[in-house]
Amino acid sequence: MKPFKPTFPEFPHMLHGGDYSPEQWRETPEIWDEDMRLMKLAHTNEMTMGIFSWAEIEPSEGVYDFSVLDTLMDKIYENGGRVILATPSGSRPHWLADKYPEVMRVNVQGHKERYNRRHNHCATSPAYRERVRIINEKLAERYKDHPALLGWHLSNEYGGFCYCDLCTKKFQKFLKEKYGTIDELNRCWWTRFWSHRYDSFEQIEPPAPVIGEAFVQGMHLDWKQFNSENIIDFIKEEIKAVRKYSDKPITTNCMGFNPEIDHRELEKHLDFFSQDEYPLWANGITVTAERLAFLLDYCRGIKHGQPFIMMESAPGIHVSAMRFKKTKTDKQQLLEAVKMISHGSDSVLYFQWRKGRGAHEKFHGAVVDHYGKDDTRVFRNVAKVGTMLEKLDDLVGSVVNADVAITFDTPTRWALNGSADIGDWSDNGYHATASAFHAAFYRKNIPVDVIGYDEDFSKYKVVVLTVPYVMEQPLADKIRSYVENGGVVITSFLTSVVNSNDLCHLGGTPALGLSDVFGLRVDEIDTYRPFDQDIAENYVAYEGKEYKLSGFAEHVVAKGATALAQYTDEEFFSDGALFEHSFGKGKAYYMAFQHDTFQNALVERLIKECSLKTPMDAESDDGIIIRRRDGEKKSIYFVTNETNEEKTVSFPKAYRNLMTDETVSRTQKLAGCEFLILAEE
Ligand code: GAL
Repeated sequence: MKPFKPTFPEFPHMLHGGDYSPEQWRETPEIWDEDMRLMKLAHTNEMTMGIFSWAEIEPSEGVYDFSVLDTLMDKIYENGGRVILATPSGSRPHWLADKYPEVMRVNVQGHKERYNRRHNHCATSPAYRERVRIINEKLAERYKDHPALLGWHLSNEYGGFCYCDLCTKKFQKFLKEKYGTIDELNRCWWTRFWSHRYDSFEQIEPPAPVIGEAFVQGMHLDWKQFNSENIIDFIKEEIKAVRKYSDKPITTNCMGFNPEIDHRELEKHLDFFSQDEYPLWANGITVTAERLAFLLDYCRGIKHGQPFIMMESAPGIHVSAMRFKKTKTDKQQLLEAVKMISHGSDSVLYFQWRKGRGAHEKFHGAVVDHYGKDDTRVFRNVAKVGTMLEKLDDLVGSVVNADVAITFDTPTRWALNGSADIGDWSDNGYHATASAFHAAFYRKNIPVDVIGYDEDFSKYKVVVLTVPYVMEQPLADKIRSYVENGGVVITSFLTSVVNSNDLCHLGGTPALGLSDVFGLRVDEIDTYRPFDQDIAENYVAYEGKEYKLSGFAEHVVAKGATALAQYTDEEFFSDGALFEHSFGKGKAYYMAFQHDTFQNALVERLIKECSLKTPMDAESDDGIIIRRRDGEKKSIYFVTNETNEEKTVSFPKAYRNLMTDETVSRTQKLAGCEFLILAEE
């Protein structure tokens, strides 16, 4: 893959900075000046402003006061910094909610919410969309030519559901457009079950335990899709208002693997993808690094390999209300930054620059503490990250090349979740299966792209299909032709079971021709659950080791595939547990059971069979991770010790340490959490 153009061509540097709320210090403008001094000392170059400032910039309807923003845009620019400016829709002023009550959500219990919290407007409300249009246009018109302006940050962490009448009507319209007739909807939702037939679109209410229907899975799928599309539609209107005056790049900060929005649909409207992430290193260095790596590879995959912006992370401790988490050690803070950039972020940005004096996040980690000075441990660490990033301009726009892809599809998670409950992120092992495969490759230093089904599979030697439960013919054909033409595909339990309405395919699974590709048929689906009594334990035996089952385990009838692993329980009728099948010029693997460590063994096999390569030909102890970003001018290597113990790495040739500008010796010992950033001599 070729490098990308810098996201901000006029400022081709790694971004370092974060959320800045100067309006909280309106009465003490001397603090703004002190901030400018401290920003330079912290080696920051970017501030994200305006996210929660609506009540300041529009104190009452149609009355504007941009004085704080004006002052700070100027000050930041004069001090060498740049600004990503937010639209304020993530949290509305009191007057707006009072005057236009329709902007408040109706929650899943059917109650109209009173003025509270944030991120909780109705995405349908024309009154809200109009107020947002007006304020966005005002901001864009005012700051479009400001030299500090780098780009736009829409709202904040969109998500959630609203069940008001406006949303209900819009959902009905969405369904009418999708199905045409109520008979077609009834057919696709299988509503003869329990006599739940709809006679008209007007009868349909959103699925929820106490409001509407909660037991029609096809409806859940449509509701989640509608909700995601409705939020994206809201975002499109925000973009339109900004675009009326400004052509600067636009993004919105997303939250992890949030299944409420289909990020792959959202990205089509954004110039770059950005993400907030708060790793908790106290959960264990190795496991936290692995989890973070999976998320970062997912972020890079959203815009097809284009670098992303890490928009928020915590300097120091993560605290909401009075729920304190664990502080980070110096090494953890730096390792976190290195992980982010090594996987494709062109920034390390924080929430927040300065701790506020009151309210929900007053103790949340910040570059500047209530103490207010630069001689704190957190400040020193942030400055170290800044110094490091200043030496890495060559990273901007550079890419990660991978021979392995893991698919990750939000609508499939919706279908596997099967539930109408909001806030329920469970997905029957979808995320866990993808992350287990990712971790297995990661531990062996094999780079992975996390992709959508729309990506070109032929770029990869190996494609892991994460629980592809939902299948339509075009995707099945794509998988078939990938394998026929020499690709290696791995799939798991619950492959090709339902269509995109969650209607089961007839004629056996994996359906739609995939039974031929994998050379088998699934006869029954079983599960192993920790609370089952009197059930014989069952294991998968593979290459002399046994792996205890927990979760799905399918009974399989082989039809040409060779079993590579067996279930140990003889009464569990199945021709095997792991299968391989040559098909055309390629190979298809079927892992019929759910697991979270078996993938390590399978990946070792794939590395040999497919000659998968590490990013550098080094010899290293387990726990040393090597990543590479390929730029226009050079490749940069990141060698990280993601354990607490000392580890050794031996390089095939001499490299230059980009932080010290020294040549590194061929064999290096790295203390726990230590890292090297290298380039070829
Ligand atoms: C993010 C949010 C920020 C702040 C932060 C605290 O999710 O976007 O505004 O609340 O969490 O960790």
